[in-house]
Amino acid sequence: MRGLSKMRAKDLNYDRILSSMCTPPHPIALKAHRKFQETNLGDPGLFPGSAELERQAVGMMAEMLGHPQACGYLSTGGTESNIQAIRAARNAHGFRDGNIVVPKSAHFSFDKIGDLLCLEIRKADLDDDLKVDVGSVEDLIDENTVSMVGIAGTTEFGQVDPVDRLGRLALDSGIHLHVDAAFGGFVLPFLEGDWKWDFRAEGVTSITIDPHKMGMATIPGGGLLFRHPEDLDRLAAYAPYLTMARPTALTGTRSGAIAAAVWAVMNHLGREGFTKVIDRCMALSRRMVAGAREIGIEPVIEPVMNVVTLQMDRPEEVRSDLLECCWRVSTTRSPKALRLILMPHLTYENVDLFLADLENVLNRYS
Ligand SMILES: Cc1ncc(COP(=O)(O)O)c(C=O)c1O
Repeated sequence: MRGLSKMRAKDLNYDRILSSMCTPPHPIALKAHRKFQETNLGDPGLFPGSAELERQAVGMMAEMLGHPQACGYLSTGGTESNIQAIRAARNAHGFRDGNIVVPKSAHFSFDKIGDLLCLEIRKADLDDDLKVDVGSVEDLIDENTVSMVGIAGTTEFGQVDPVDRLGRLALDSGIHLHVDAAFGGFVLPFLEGDWKWDFRAEGVTSITIDPHKMGMATIPGGGLLFRHPEDLDRLAAYAPYLTMARPTALTGTRSGAIAAAVWAVMNHLGREGFTKVIDRCMALSRRMVAGAREIGIEPVIEPVMNVVTLQMDRPEEVRSDLLECCWRVSTTRSPKALRLILMPHLTYENVDLFLADLENVLNRYS
């Protein structure tokens, strides 16, 4: 155990991490996770209690995403969910040399998907607000398009694509529309505003949502939901030696711990609890933006969720200078900016300390 403690001590704690979309799990998620550690959702007949928790957790997310009848499963995270959603869409079309149309802002998991599923990845332009340009998507789709993708909470800027308009295009053209809400899935339901980005938008066929990001569950906790059960069924393989003959997950053995963790944290926090968490993260984001403005830096976009990107000429250099003060931040590609994620582990005090260090670093360049 001493060896393990030594290695664990090398890991950073989250206090000064502004670059991650993960956060320490809620204590109740950790407790639930530990209780179900040895269970296997891949063989649900042996662990019916864990399987029931997964069904209920998926049901709670389905309700939250505007379609209580949606079906799906708990995955290892956003990458697996995106792979499986596109695989289902491809299988629905019945041909293997098609393409998918994703926004230029899409997560790099879609590049892996192109490689794994032998699909051409077509990248649609963004508008000035860094949302996907629906006209560009329309220009890129053709008879070989198996799915379009919209993002509800882009990895770099936290922006939300016009999913309702994409949904109408999807319906008109008979193409699947997958929404990647890996980050936004546990943020947007708790913000004010009447945008349609989930199953409430007609035409949305599947959604990725990650409890291990803003859902405060344990890692690896992803979620994938489908509007139509036949799409989930398109992922099934025949496994006669298991207690479930037609498993649909990508991985075989799957820990029941994640089902317990998601179930526990969703029941414990409920709508009210999550709203408080998100309100606080948004207040931290506003404080970050206001403080940045005081030292002469503007955000690339007004934050839609708790992702703040600050315009500057040399973000990579600023990033490495901030390391001296132990701050972990990241940068964006285009436009270039410093990227900060205001996760639940951040405090007002640390936001202020960060801003003071940022000002000192920037003064070196002036
Ligand atoms: C929008 C989006 N989709 C997918 C992913 C991939 O999620 P994971 O790292 O859990 O595989 C991320 C990760 O940051 C993301 O931001």
